Amino acid sequence: MRVLEIDHPLVAHKLTVLRDATTHSSVFRQLADELVTLLAYEATRQVRVGDVEISTPVTEMTGTKLTNPKPMVVPILRAGLGMLDGLTRLLPTAEVGFLGMVRNEETLEVTTYANRLPEDLTGRQCFVLDPMLATGHTLIAAVEYLTERGASDVTCVTLLCAPEGLAAMEAAVDPEIDLTIVTASIDEKLNEKGYIVPGLGDAGDRLFG
Ligand code: PRP
Repeated sequence: MRVLEIDHPLVAHKLTVLRDATTHSSVFRQLADELVTLLAYEATRQVRVGDVEISTPVTEMTGTKLTNPKPMVVPILRAGLGMLDGLTRLLPTAEVGFLGMVRNEETLEVTTYANRLPEDLTGRQCFVLDPMLATGHTLIAAVEYLTERGASDVTCVTLLCAPEGLAAMEAAVDPEIDLTIVTASIDEKLNEKGYIVPGLGDAGDRLFG
């Protein structure tokens, strides 16, 4: 498992405004969208491309284009929806599937309540969107779901991660799976309620009220 914590002044600036409890949800949505586009630049670094022959107005040349099968983008409902436009802006031809998952705020266990994904993901590159990796239960379940259906490599894009959740993912996910986590910040810790500290609160509530 690879973890990329993006070190960039614009990422740091936008994340600081997101963390601020006084930031209104309309601004929060806008900044989350912009932040995801910055993260998406790194998250798509290994996206599969191939050579294509084209003619410029001047000459023939070999260029580069995305190859089939198309990448699959999977926002985890509900908060991951706030990240979808930010990623598909860079990958407009990607296919989009949905997983609805919610964690029980008492037990912190995860339930899957919706699934709109192809049954066969053999060989597909998948980009999973979820703003928070807290205990890691949600993303562990999402990655298992995709790889059981044949996905060959999975990149999770998050705004924040807790070290505890990253350790849980490392321990739970098959090391044979090509797994990358791209995040704006690895925060300090989880608190006793399973919230990331310092964090930004409940991303779903802050995005959608
Ligand atoms: C939040 C968050 C992640 C999950 C992270 O979602 O958006 O999906 O919790 O927690 P974990 O790493 O401990 O599993 P929540 O279950 O609150 O649902 P929501 O997106 O509908 O608000």
